Amino acid sequence: MRDEKDFEGLQQKTAADKSVLKKRYLRPVDTSNELKHLLWQELALSKLIAGWIPAIPVYDQKVRLGSLSYLHNRNVKCLYERIKELPGGIHDSDWMSDMTRETFERVFGAANEYGFFVSYLFILKQLYAQYDELMMRLDPILNAPTIDQLNIVLMERHSTFNWVLEQTRFGQGNSEEGTRQLLEWEEYIASVWAIFQANSGSDAQAAAAVWPTHLVKDPAGPLPEKAKLEPKFPKYSEERPQKSYTDTSMSVLHDSVKQMIYIYATELFAGETLSSIYYYIDRMPLPFYFDLARHMWDEFRHSQMGMRRLQQWGYSVDQFKWVGGPGKQDVKEHFTELYSNLTMLGEACGFKKKRKSAEAFWKFGDVLSAITCEFDLIDERRHIDFATTWGPELYKKADMIITFQEMAEMARMRRLTELQTVPPEEMAKLAKNFPVFCGFHTSELAYDKY
Ligand SMILES: [Fe+2]
Ligand SMILES: [Fe+2]
Repeated sequence: MRDEKDFEGLQQKTAADKSVLKKRYLRPVDTSNELKHLLWQELALSKLIAGWIPAIPVYDQKVRLGSLSYLHNRNVKCLYERIKELPGGIHDSDWMSDMTRETFERVFGAANEYGFFVSYLFILKQLYAQYDELMMRLDPILNAPTIDQLNIVLMERHSTFNWVLEQTRFGQGNSEEGTRQLLEWEEYIASVWAIFQANSGSDAQAAAAVWPTHLVKDPAGPLPEKAKLEPKFPKYSEERPQKSYTDTSMSVLHDSVKQMIYIYATELFAGETLSSIYYYIDRMPLPFYFDLARHMWDEFRHSQMGMRRLQQWGYSVDQFKWVGGPGKQDVKEHFTELYSNLTMLGEACGFKKKRKSAEAFWKFGDVLSAITCEFDLIDERRHIDFATTWGPELYKKADMIITFQEMAEMARMRRLTELQTVPPEEMAKLAKNFPVFCGFHTSELAYDKY
């Protein structure tokens, strides 16, 4: 049934018209198609950056890439907002073409982090060229709302480009062989891109496209076998302690409320857990990726805010031990557990500890640490909301239909089983009693010592 507001029919009636004059100007439907082409590229890029984070050892690069993966996701959101207003809209079941996915997977199938940054720079150049081209075609009055969204997308263009450029400047700068490989890699990704440009217009062409042989046998990312971290960060390799962070060998701040700040710094592992899931899970509705990217970015920010405060106090990373993010197999086999453990155990049980730490920091006159905890609490509240919505949806991906409540209880049961301190017959009861359960899972801090 159509009414006067519906002009889908009009769009179709004239779609076959091949007039050059009509091709010269963008109709609403053409605008939507152009934006969708960019949207899927931004999403593919955002996901691949996230997937590469655990494969990159340098801490500063990891956290910056966390914010950049979020930024490209934010670009997806801007494009999505405008596409929703245009004919055809965008649906939860829509997904990127195989051609887009294959192109981006190939371009990012690099041998190491140096190759990754070359690929990222290359894709940025291609994306900006497309945005510039489109901007010139958009009617400044008719299509002003599109221009408005693209202006937001392009706002951080120069800072993004310059940072990525700097990461490529000295990569393999001491190696003749490494430099040769990077040059070959650049040529290879350009040839992959040429195929994308020539064939992404139609499905038939895409299916018939012939790719050049992939240059790299064992790409270092996305999703490495094991998450990497710079050697200056001593690894925590003991068995996981009975209660989180109770092993005194992890931190020189164990007997102080300042331990809270060390715990924030360790949230790199939470960022990497989420970045791996964000990369690995395909074909979810776009709002899932919006929330997950925000959650991931927040955890990298939490690590940064902890690290910054430790450094302001004069501590160095070698005075602590650090836990790595999950490896490839773990993510593939246990993404539901990784997500529900993080949200239902770590985050849900963390509120009390964080609130008490904020109070203690105020009491000791440590304003910066107190405010750090306050901002964290704001973020964490949202994370629990995200988990309420998306946790059960993630389980559907693993062919399991469960409610949020069941997901939370399953996570608590797993943890109690692992602790081996509660008789099996009492576990189910305890798993339902959230505050008491948290007492088993997590430890209190030395709130009265600074
Ligand atoms: Fe956090
Ligand atoms: Fe969180």
